[in-house]
Amino acid sequence: MVKTVVESLVQGLGQAFNELKVERGEIGWYHQRKDGESFARLDAAVRSALLEAVETPDAFDKFTFFKDEHYVRNLVYQDDNFELLVLCWAPGQGSRIHNHGDSHGLGDRGARPRGGDAGPAAPPAIPGVLAAVSPCPPLQKLGKGVAGPGAQLYINDGQALHAVRCADDTDYPHGAVTLHLYAPPTRRVLLYEPEQDRVVTRVPGHYSRDGKVVQQG
Ligand SMILES: [Fe+2]
Repeated sequence: MVKTVVESLVQGLGQAFNELKVERGEIGWYHQRKDGESFARLDAAVRSALLEAVETPDAFDKFTFFKDEHYVRNLVYQDDNFELLVLCWAPGQGSRIHNHGDSHGLGDRGARPRGGDAGPAAPPAIPGVLAAVSPCPPLQKLGKGVAGPGAQLYINDGQALHAVRCADDTDYPHGAVTLHLYAPPTRRVLLYEPEQDRVVTRVPGHYSRDGKVVQQG
């Protein structure tokens, strides 16, 4: 039987991460610092698998859902080593400033008070919130990456926090569809909200899984 583009991509990524696990016994962003050569091999394999897959954008139509209120995360595939998501952003929709929490194997780094003045904060009215604390630490903008069709961006928690948004004045009236690979899968994130002076621990949700809507919120 002929494999679909998504099945081939999942197989290629699975192979790359399995090889890494056999070689190093772990998957996580700190791998980049510990063993640059091994990371470079993984990075090349992953980038080429993703680039090949997005040459057939129709293959991801099944996972493409937008929502008027906010951007949505659509799960394509997940196992213990990695997860693949299609994110859909209407013009002007964006994420909060965030990290990828426990996803990189650093243990429980959920939001908690730091220092004598820190304490609980009112949580935002969004699904999956586990905790909220105040204050939000001071944040410094380090850079900005702009991506169009076919571009690839990489970030990990050792580099910086980040936020993603689709430009209000994008040339694409329907917005952006982006393919995201997280390794290991993101179990928790920290959301940094300077305007509310709080940091929120959240379990990220999915609007759809395997092409079926599971969450209306
Ligand atoms: Fe992110």
